[in-house]
Amino acid sequence: MGRQHNGSRALGLLTLLAASATATPLVKPAKVVQTVDNTLKGVTANVKNLFLSGTTPNNTSSRCKVYPGDRNWPSDAAWASLNKLVDNRLLNRPDPLAAVCYNGPLYNAEECVKVTAHWNESYSHFDNAVEMMSPVAQGMTCLPPNIFDSHNCTRGGFPMYVINATKPEHIQHGVNFARNTGVRLVVKNTGHDFLGKSGGKDALSVWTHYFKDIEYFENYEDKEGNYSGPAFKAGVGVQAFEIYKAAHEKGHSVVGGEGETVGIFGGYIQGGGHSPLTSLYGTGADQVLAFEVVTADGDYVIANSTSNTDLFWAMRGGGGSTFGVATSVTVKAHPDLPTTASRFSFTSEKMGNETFWAAIRDYVEYFVPNADAGTYAYWTLIPNVFTGIFSFGMSPFFAPNKTLEETKALLQPWLARLEELGVNVDPNITHFPSYYEAWQSSFPLEAVGKINATTGSRLFPRANFETKEKRDELFQNLRQSSENNRVQVHFNIKAVDPANSDNAVNSAWRENILFSQQAVRWNPNGTAAETLKARQDFQSGDMQRWRDISPGAGSYLAEADRLEPDFGQAFWGDKYPRLLELKAKLDPYDVFFAHTTVGSERWKVESVDGLPNENGKLCRVEN
Ligand SMILES: Cc1cc2nc3c(=O)[nH]c(=O)nc-3n(C[C@H](O)[C@H](O)[C@H](O)COP(=O)(O)OP(=O)(O)OC[C@H]3O[C@@H](n4cnc5c(N)ncnc54)[C@H](O)[C@@H]3O)c2cc1C
Ligand SMILES: *[C@@H]1O[C@H](CO)[C@@H](O)[C@H](O)[C@H]1NC(C)=O
Ligand SMILES: *[C@@H]1O[C@H](CO)[C@@H](O)[C@H](O)[C@H]1NC(C)=O
Ligand SMILES: *[C@@H]1O[C@H](CO)[C@@H](O)[C@H](O)[C@H]1NC(C)=O
Ligand SMILES: *[C@@H]1O[C@H](CO)[C@@H](O)[C@H](O)[C@H]1NC(C)=O
Ligand SMILES: *[C@@H]1O[C@H](CO)[C@@H](O)[C@H](O)[C@H]1NC(C)=O
Ligand SMILES: *[C@@H]1O[C@H](CO)[C@@H](O)[C@H](O)[C@H]1NC(C)=O
Ligand SMILES: *[C@@H]1O[C@H](CO)[C@@H](O)[C@H](O)[C@H]1NC(C)=O
Ligand SMILES: *[C@@H]1O[C@H](CO)[C@@H](O)[C@H](O)[C@H]1NC(C)=O
Ligand SMILES: *[C@@H]1O[C@H](CO)[C@@H](O)[C@H](O)[C@H]1NC(C)=O
Ligand SMILES: *[C@@H]1O[C@H](CO)[C@@H](O)[C@H](O)[C@H]1NC(C)=O
Ligand SMILES: *[C@@H]1O[C@H](CO)[C@@H](O)[C@H](O)[C@H]1NC(C)=O
Ligand SMILES: *[C@@H]1O[C@H](CO)[C@@H](O)[C@H](O)[C@H]1NC(C)=O
Repeated sequence: MGRQHNGSRALGLLTLLAASATATPLVKPAKVVQTVDNTLKGVTANVKNLFLSGTTPNNTSSRCKVYPGDRNWPSDAAWASLNKLVDNRLLNRPDPLAAVCYNGPLYNAEECVKVTAHWNESYSHFDNAVEMMSPVAQGMTCLPPNIFDSHNCTRGGFPMYVINATKPEHIQHGVNFARNTGVRLVVKNTGHDFLGKSGGKDALSVWTHYFKDIEYFENYEDKEGNYSGPAFKAGVGVQAFEIYKAAHEKGHSVVGGEGETVGIFGGYIQGGGHSPLTSLYGTGADQVLAFEVVTADGDYVIANSTSNTDLFWAMRGGGGSTFGVATSVTVKAHPDLPTTASRFSFTSEKMGNETFWAAIRDYVEYFVPNADAGTYAYWTLIPNVFTGIFSFGMSPFFAPNKTLEETKALLQPWLARLEELGVNVDPNITHFPSYYEAWQSSFPLEAVGKINATTGSRLFPRANFETKEKRDELFQNLRQSSENNRVQVHFNIKAVDPANSDNAVNSAWRENILFSQQAVRWNPNGTAAETLKARQDFQSGDMQRWRDISPGAGSYLAEADRLEPDFGQAFWGDKYPRLLELKAKLDPYDVFFAHTTVGSERWKVESVDGLPNENGKLCRVEN
């Protein structure tokens, strides 16, 4: 087994021999569907070597990736050849949205007002080739001045070149070029990632947003994958609102996030992915039947239950931008279940703190039965330091496959207790004929682009709810975080796995009852040192308290803090050793990198301000 190399390619042959000489059961992608080497005819001889697939790069010993000004930075002719190979879809320094607000050729005061007004909407950002919805991770170098004045619009953590890819070959050329030149490669889909994993200063970016095809299979048979039934094959650029609509039209639903515009088949699904349907069907990654993937060698392969099974295992939960670039994902389809949903809220303003907290404490009693009943609750706890008022928001309580009566019965014990406490809520409990309609009605578009906050998270396992003492302890720790001015977002869900899939999803998800997030906020005008201190204190303080009461549990890699300590254990638990081994086998030269991904410990972005962001060179960590 091994890549089917052309016998004349000595490097490939060596790789093949090396692989068969070791006794390891881990194999490199076995079946080459397609290489792009036969498309290089028009490329001039002096740069042709930069486009070959399957090569061992020459420059693995330099400390940093290759940057402008370095001797090995590709020539203009080399970039021009890349542009030609990708059908003239290489964008050179595409502009960020707020460029219209700053001196320069794009300056336009009217446009700037519009950009500013819609800045916090994801719709503004995902059609832009470079925008990242986390300016904090980008380096804050080009925001509308009324939101944050960066004085000049500079590129910061934005990539330099972007392949606006529409075919796997475009990605193959990009991967080969990055591997052969040592230029940093990033992959961007929608740019939603909170940790900024879709950007990187002066990188070459592969932008997957326009892989939009959706195909329906009425009966997908996969014996080894333990599945027989309907399925959708989606291009990796497909977003939640698109796949939910397509599924609904066929009388189905698929497991995807709550957010309207999140890319379901890029970072979300490879990183695990939780959903309003997770308490019924498991994580997003548990639904995957096949990926089409461009590997680190630049080959285009299929990873499924029988083909490239290591890659298939790793990409179901191991995280994006690590093992390959997916171009399509095939997932299970489920029935479009009738669903009941409810939104309600209350604050401490009239009732006072003790009543408010008694109400929250009582809610903790119902997390286990509600998750076990297959429901999903997305609820928030928001403090206001100026007024001293706390707010609770249920947004929403979501009960797929439950009637109105069943849902009322689930909520009734807590609602009765709220009434006893004198907490006035009048929940609007509504039944919808389908998941799709319930989802559309229940989840308003969320704001993106926060400039002075970052979120840490914890997957609180069932063990935290087993005794009254444990529930008290958990409650006290949530209350403490509110009193310390943390905005909290919680998901009361469990990640069942009916198909018993063996994949790379963090085992901590299987124990989860409450997935909890809290945020640290800082003055955006403060110094870098002040920001860093606030972020570090948050990790050693409020986040450490949450870790201390849930030993051995984890955090969710897509909704987490770049400063999460020991992130390998936190994001993958007992799956991490195998993931590290597979990273070394499948991407031995670290062509793929994003912060806090598997194997990323070997590298560090040396940011210009010392903060955790993408505005700096990517260099090896010296040891
Ligand atoms: C408003 C909002 C709501 C959210 N709701 C949920 C939710 O309900 N459930 C949940 O689990 N998460 C949720 N998230 C988190 C979400 O899962 C992550 O932000 C995720 O990274 C988004 O993936 P993307 O592909 O859209 O984003 P991007 O930022 O473009 O990419 C994320 C990461 O995946 C990599 N990547 C993207 N595409 C590919 C590909 N084809 N092949 C290889 N690597 C790839 C990128 O390199 C990057 O590292 C939410 C986030 C936001 C901002
Ligand atoms: C690799 O890079 C180093 C230093 O950056 C340079 O000296 C060397 O010539 C390069 N090797 C090749 C084969 O290009
Ligand atoms: C902004 O850019 C201009 C031109 O490059 C430069 O002269 C000026 O010093 C910059 N200002 C700031 C505040 O960085
Ligand atoms: C990227 O490609 C798509 C599809 O061809 C096109 O609609 C879009 O305008 C392109 N975007 C940019 C910034 O070139
Ligand atoms: C690496 O170096 C060898 C020998 O100098 C050369 O033949 C090969 O083309 C180089 N590869 C790349 C990608 O530059
Ligand atoms: C898995 O991929 C292989 C290789 O392409 C293919 O032959 C096989 O049919 C696929 N399995 C399923 C269930 O589609
Ligand atoms: C409630 O608690 C907050 C801080 O935890 C405090 O600021 C506020 O004054 C308290 N409210 C009342 C009414 O006691
Ligand atoms: C939905 O409810 C029906 C009727 O109670 C039940 O038969 C079915 O198994 C449920 N579906 C899921 C996915 O739980
Ligand atoms: C209850 O919620 C439903 C769905 O969101 C909405 O259509 C309806 O108007 C609401 N009813 C009341 C009384 O607010
Ligand atoms: C987004 O910003 C607008 C004003 O720019 C504001 O009115 C709105 O409340 C913000 N949305 C959210 C969800 O914060
Ligand atoms: C199918 O189920 C078996 C037995 O439960 C499990 O070992 C295997 O990993 C499953 N296959 C996939 C692709 O999840
Ligand atoms: C975060 O920034 C927003 C917008 O500039 C501001 O209103 C808020 O006060 C800031 N938070 C802190 C803690 O400074
Ligand atoms: C940051 O500074 C700007 C300009 O000096 C000011 O308008 C803004 O209110 C400040 N923001 C905060 C949160 O202090």
